[in-house]
Amino acid sequence: MTRVIITGSKGRMGQMLAACAARNPELKVVWQIDIGDELSSVIDRCDVVIDFSFHDATPGVAQLCAEHHKALVIGTTGHSEPEKTAIRAHAAAIPMVWASNYSTGVNTLFWLTQKAAEILGTGFDLEVVEMHHRLKKDAPSGTATTLLEILGDVRKLQLKEALRHGREGIVGERTHDEIGMHAIRGGDVVGDHTVIFAGNGERVELTHKASSRETFANGALRAAQWVVNQKPGIFDMQDVLGLK
Ligand SMILES: NC(=O)c1ccc[n+]([C@@H]2O[C@H](COP(=O)([O-])OP(=O)(O)OC[C@H]3O[C@@H](n4cnc5c(N)ncnc54)[C@H](O)[C@@H]3O)[C@@H](O)[C@H]2O)c1
Repeated sequence: MTRVIITGSKGRMGQMLAACAARNPELKVVWQIDIGDELSSVIDRCDVVIDFSFHDATPGVAQLCAEHHKALVIGTTGHSEPEKTAIRAHAAAIPMVWASNYSTGVNTLFWLTQKAAEILGTGFDLEVVEMHHRLKKDAPSGTATTLLEILGDVRKLQLKEALRHGREGIVGERTHDEIGMHAIRGGDVVGDHTVIFAGNGERVELTHKASSRETFANGALRAAQWVVNQKPGIFDMQDVLGLK
């Protein structure tokens, strides 16, 4: 039985995690934390913390996990560079799964995106489009950022120079060395991502559409059960799924 504490428990993902965990006999949610609650006073009751709160809360959650030797599953996205550095500082102390997306389908999309980029090569222009519900706070999504990192790695492009966020005005002709990024917001869309490979005379589009947060929640719970048996370090969902 894996004992879990959820942080961000009153949010969309937090509530879905609790609902999915209740159907899993191998997991027990022993405490739920949201704004105003004290994680430090209850953390010793759990084996693993699952954090789907807010990007600025995650470094503090990681520090508490390290101090109390608890594993961590990070669901939050949109971390600043200093926040990422602060989280990584605890990798030597505890095992963490840190994934921009916990769905099996999206992790398959990550794999397919790498393969397609390798096969299609430099003759194809790369654009990423994502759409999310109107309440999402960060842009582009963490999943889109992972897709951009995969494309940048394959093409050996530095994202700082290659990335074009939307286009406006007289931007000139598109170069081969840019990757376009377009974030759309509206309605209750759980999460859509498309990677476009546009060549001469043909175009490949890889699309994933999430229609329920259940897929993220079940993936994060699976990661929680997996991570409690790991040595300290940072892992992603591809490690959990055995795709590496
Ligand atoms: N990795 C994935 O697969 C995945 C999937 C969906 C969402 N997300 C990310 O998960 C996070 C939560 O998404 P959501 O849609 O559930 O958001 P939400 O706004 O519905 O919920 C966030 C909850 O966290 C709470 N919270 C904020 N700061 C806190 C703090 N300091 N301590 C404790 N609780 C705090 C809020 O009160 C709220 O209840 C976002 O960063 C989102 O991008 C990741």
